[in-house]
Amino acid sequence: MNILVIGTGYVGSTTAMVFAELGWKVTGLDTDKHKIQQLEQGVLHFYEPGLEDMLRKHVQSGQIQFTTNKDKAIRDNDLIFICVGTPSRADGSADMRYVKQVAEDIGQKMNGYKLVVTKSTVPVGTQEQITAWIAAAQEQAYPFDVASNPEFLREGKAVADALNPDRIIIGSNSKRAAHVLQSLYQSAKCPVVITTPRTAELIKYASNAFLATKISFVNELARLCDVLDVNVKEVSFGMGLDPRIGPSFLQAGIGYGGSCFPKDVSALILTAKQNSTELSVLEKVVQVNQTQHAYLINKVRERLGSLANQKIAVLGLAFKPDTDDIREAPALRVIESLLNEQAHVTLYDPVASLPADAAYKAVTECSKLEEALQAADAVILCTEWPIFKNIDWGHMKLVMSQPNVFDGRNILDPRDMRANGYYYQGIGHNG
Ligand SMILES: NC(=O)c1ccc[n+]([C@@H]2O[C@H](COP(=O)([O-])OP(=O)(O)OC[C@H]3O[C@@H](n4cnc5c(N)ncnc54)[C@H](O)[C@@H]3O)[C@@H](O)[C@H]2O)c1
Repeated sequence: MNILVIGTGYVGSTTAMVFAELGWKVTGLDTDKHKIQQLEQGVLHFYEPGLEDMLRKHVQSGQIQFTTNKDKAIRDNDLIFICVGTPSRADGSADMRYVKQVAEDIGQKMNGYKLVVTKSTVPVGTQEQITAWIAAAQEQAYPFDVASNPEFLREGKAVADALNPDRIIIGSNSKRAAHVLQSLYQSAKCPVVITTPRTAELIKYASNAFLATKISFVNELARLCDVLDVNVKEVSFGMGLDPRIGPSFLQAGIGYGGSCFPKDVSALILTAKQNSTELSVLEKVVQVNQTQHAYLINKVRERLGSLANQKIAVLGLAFKPDTDDIREAPALRVIESLLNEQAHVTLYDPVASLPADAAYKAVTECSKLEEALQAADAVILCTEWPIFKNIDWGHMKLVMSQPNVFDGRNILDPRDMRANGYYYQGIGHNG
């Protein structure tokens, strides 16, 4: 089976590499010539631990190839995975223009049976929509199937997640398509759920929405913990021991970000509205998330007073560690608030950098952590990069102007920080 992966971003590149690793011949197609040139040379255009090694191996062996030639790629491959982006539109709905373009390309260029599989996160009903788009674009009525196979990988752990998924969801109305996908994943050691396309599409949104709910729940609880003088980390630990709850996604902080949770929660809320119903819990989840960074900034203001002309060092930009992805990163909201209040902002992240956007031109990006802390009146920690757990705070106190640390990810020990002479505030975690 020759596999075509359309869209070579985070999901498409990982998907392509994992299929190559499983022994299939894979072609990666993208409209972005620069990305394709880099991939052809074995260079990954984003940061993902372990993925570039796999890329080099499979480019060298010829197991994987990359192209911008959609006509040939569609003609030469019968199994096609759609991995293009579905970003948020202004109203919160998923922007389906890239998926539509791909469906029309497939319809126009197909030369025989094709199985088209959606890995992009798409609203319920998209399988039917893609079927209609392909059919409308066809010049000749070749047979085809469209199935849904949502992706659950986590950036930063994408290789392990894609090689060892915890479940595979196949949404298909066609026995033939379900059979092909089952054989593709036959070596997987996890449950394979065969269901309808609509169910598969909703499983993906519901999963992300539930994880976001856990995060907002614990973040709001952390605000109560602050008032009650209770440590939210201990509360999370105690709660997480209950197998019905589990420990993951119960870490209080400055909120969730990334390319998935914010957009997927918004899209699901909108889907409910469009179908004359509501997801009121999720509406609150968004509200808590949108105010969580402000909760921490408020603590900074309580300590420093006006932030105008104060020098604030922001540690961490990526929306989580082990990725350079800054889409919807809470650190961006923190930086924007600080700039609005006329603070001088320095920034250090081991991997991620700010976009070339006029809005951030006042920020000084530093290549060394110590440089960012030079003469700082306060530090705000926004991403839980492991190296931030081992900062020599004794030394940094000599570098900083005022020893104030605001830990937006609760990774530092308040007692150690205070023993080092720091004023420390976490989120529901100060004891
Ligand atoms: N990033 C994640 O962690 C993750 C996890 C699970 C699911 N998803 C979902 O997977 C999808 C892709 O996400 P991503 O983060 O990989 O996005 P991305 O923006 O990194 O990559 C999308 C790629 O598609 C390409 N593209 C756009 N139109 C194209 C076209 N017509 N033909 C060929 N290529 C085209 C773009 O150039 C880009 O390289 C989204 O729906 C997302 O919600 C993402």
